[in-house]
Amino acid sequence: MPATTPIPPSIILDCDPGHDDAIAIVVAAQHTNLLGITTVAGNAPLTLTTRNALIMTDLLGIDTPVHSGAERPLVAPPRHAGYVHGASGLDGADLPEPSRPVDSNHAIDFIIDTCRNTEGVWLVPIGPLTNIALALRAAPDLAGRIAGISLMGGGTFGNRTAAAEFNLWADPEAAAMVFDYGGPLMMSGLDVTHQFQATPDRVDKVRALPGRLAELLADLLVFFSHTYTTRHDDMGGAAVHDPIAVMALTHPELFTVVRRHVVIEVWGEHTRGMTLIDQRSLIERRPPNCDMLTHVDADAAFDVIVRAIAAFSR
Ligand code: BDR
Ligand code: CA
Repeated sequence: MPATTPIPPSIILDCDPGHDDAIAIVVAAQHTNLLGITTVAGNAPLTLTTRNALIMTDLLGIDTPVHSGAERPLVAPPRHAGYVHGASGLDGADLPEPSRPVDSNHAIDFIIDTCRNTEGVWLVPIGPLTNIALALRAAPDLAGRIAGISLMGGGTFGNRTAAAEFNLWADPEAAAMVFDYGGPLMMSGLDVTHQFQATPDRVDKVRALPGRLAELLADLLVFFSHTYTTRHDDMGGAAVHDPIAVMALTHPELFTVVRRHVVIEVWGEHTRGMTLIDQRSLIERRPPNCDMLTHVDADAAFDVIVRAIAAFSR
């Protein structure tokens, strides 16, 4: 029997680059049918996350359309993560200026039109969920049209607060809408992404690749890891969160997944933005709405990243 090549999933990557978003763009460019990149305010203001996405497409030499979206969360005040990613969102490397302008400032329309015109699109949000919530609210038919949503966010512990992970904390109302949308949902939260660290030996594998892309990504990972190792007392490198939401689709064999019912806390004084994960064994617990990733084969997953970078290295 001839080996069959799995069909790459068609995805829209909704991101706020961001060091780990930049790595996710590389993996998505190599392993998916990347229909478009949409940007959202998150790690940095929208102008910067959009700029960073455009720079990444230049470095990869791809002409994937980039559309910018929401400038701020639905309700929460805009808050960024310069303490992790630097003021630019991608501090730590001498990046070039983007060579082209953004394709449009209408990411929501792009998401809606693409999901209506293409069968079986996966939405892969790896920043605050503002764009995805706005698209689902403007076009409720999307919930039944898309293949699903694979997102990075949440977990049984937080990072921005004790309870809440940054992406969901940044726009809890949007997150609540997405977790309640009713279709297939995959959640790559901190439980799995903190197992996936850019340790020095792994960063060395990137730096050993030829060419400018690898050198710049290695510089970015060094900066990103520095913020993690200096802000945590138990980490050997940055948690490379965002590519996990892509690899959950392209390399499912690398992950352990459990089915859970998950809702977003929007009211709690100390818990706003938290994923409340129903871990009970009681038979009257609510039916699962989510595939939650719990474990990753970190060495194998990092090798996927290294090979993806190598494929664009020249
Ligand atoms: C998430 O927040 C951002 O800083 C990262 O890009 C990632 O998407 C991790 O909490
Ligand atoms: Ca991100």
